[in-house]
Amino acid sequence: MAIHDTSPQPAGTALPQRLGRAPEPRELDPAERMSVDELRATQLARLQWTLEHAYENVPLYKRKFDEAGVRPEDLRSLEDLRHFPHTTKDDLRDTYPFGMLAVPQEHVSRIHASSGTTGRPTVVGYTEDDIDTWASVVARSIRAAGGRPGHKVHVSYGYGLFTGGLGAHYGAEKLGCTVIPASGGQTAKQVQLIQDFRPEIIMITPSYMLTLLDEFERQGIDPRTTSLRTGIFGAEPWTEQMRREIEERFDLHAVDIYGLSEVMGPGVANECVETKDGLHIWEDHFYPEVLDPLSHDVLPDGQNGELALTSLTKQAMPVIRYRTRDLTTLRPGTARPMRRMDKVTGRSDDMIILRGVNVFPTQIEEIILDLDGLAPHFQLVLTKDGRLDRMSVRVEATPDCTADRRVSLSKEIVATVKDRVGVSVTVDVVDPEGIERSVGKFRRIIDRRQD
Ligand code: DLL
Repeated sequence: MAIHDTSPQPAGTALPQRLGRAPEPRELDPAERMSVDELRATQLARLQWTLEHAYENVPLYKRKFDEAGVRPEDLRSLEDLRHFPHTTKDDLRDTYPFGMLAVPQEHVSRIHASSGTTGRPTVVGYTEDDIDTWASVVARSIRAAGGRPGHKVHVSYGYGLFTGGLGAHYGAEKLGCTVIPASGGQTAKQVQLIQDFRPEIIMITPSYMLTLLDEFERQGIDPRTTSLRTGIFGAEPWTEQMRREIEERFDLHAVDIYGLSEVMGPGVANECVETKDGLHIWEDHFYPEVLDPLSHDVLPDGQNGELALTSLTKQAMPVIRYRTRDLTTLRPGTARPMRRMDKVTGRSDDMIILRGVNVFPTQIEEIILDLDGLAPHFQLVLTKDGRLDRMSVRVEATPDCTADRRVSLSKEIVATVKDRVGVSVTVDVVDPEGIERSVGKFRRIIDRRQD
């Protein structure tokens, strides 16, 4: 694959640096240059401040700490955090809308809300300082992905209560980039803007990037010829197979960005383009733990479980051990001193339990993208047959895929899913354009079990 040059550029280049090289140390934030010991000391001081701030100013935290018999001053080392209670989405819902705020409302300069489709939304608030911290971690994320001041950043994450659009926007501005606030939707126009404005960077969900890919092809434009050099993809799970597919089809670097509204928004963690080996959690602002999904005990680094995050600097809405429901593994730092998290396999809420076997859409994505003749568009349909749950994989054929090939592909998917995942599924290889297209976060699972 002809990915663009990743070597350092000669000094004195007048134009913005080419993307994809590691930043010079002087370009990094001080925290990115800390030793691990310095980082841990910073975290401890900030954690002590956060616990005190939450306990003193948020009745829910005071009640939960009191019930657990812990006081902020009981935290003497980072390991002591495990004695403090978790926070869940239900806590945020129960205190809807503003009960989690730790500052008077007039100090809150922005409100966002989660994109949850069921129940009450969860509301998050930011002080002016919080907005600045958020912009800084997103700026750091864009730089880790290869962005530099002067680059044009096309933002296709939705603007609004969703944190994607505005989060990316403020971060790109903070880095000194030129922002194109396209938001989601109007796909034909997005293609035109990319052709005319020639951005180097796009920030978008991976599934919406596939929709753009189709639109480029529909307009007769080879996606490999665009000005885009880096895509910063997040807001939904995606696999290494999807990275290869997007890098190959667009000839760009595909880098992962992670975050969630309850903790901040995008920019909690980001991959470095020079290593692409997992997402560095910006640990000077967010303290990660991985929990056993059943017992909720803290697991050692290297073991897979549910990510819990504690904010270290947030003023308006500190979160203590927030259970993200995202499944991942913590690893030591590489390109940065901060620990990395593996690509998220999925949310525990999105896990399908099919006749006792746990299935994630990412497992099916890996299988589909390895097969020639299939497009990267698929959905999983759940139905009930008597008391048995059934799953059907609906996946699109590529235009050149023959009828015979479709039959053999379908058999191959059934056999591979049985072999690798351990469940029996039915497969429906549908015509090109037969699966709906994403304009943001894509709904992979269609649950018809209650119909
Ligand atoms: O999706 C924030 C965001 C916007 C992140 C743009 C990255 C880019 P929420 O709507 O609150 O916030 O959804 C958060 O999305 O708990 C994960 O389940 C999922 N998610 C976010 N980033 C990734 C990622 C935004 N890189 C929820 N990989 C999280 C896998 C992701 N899942």
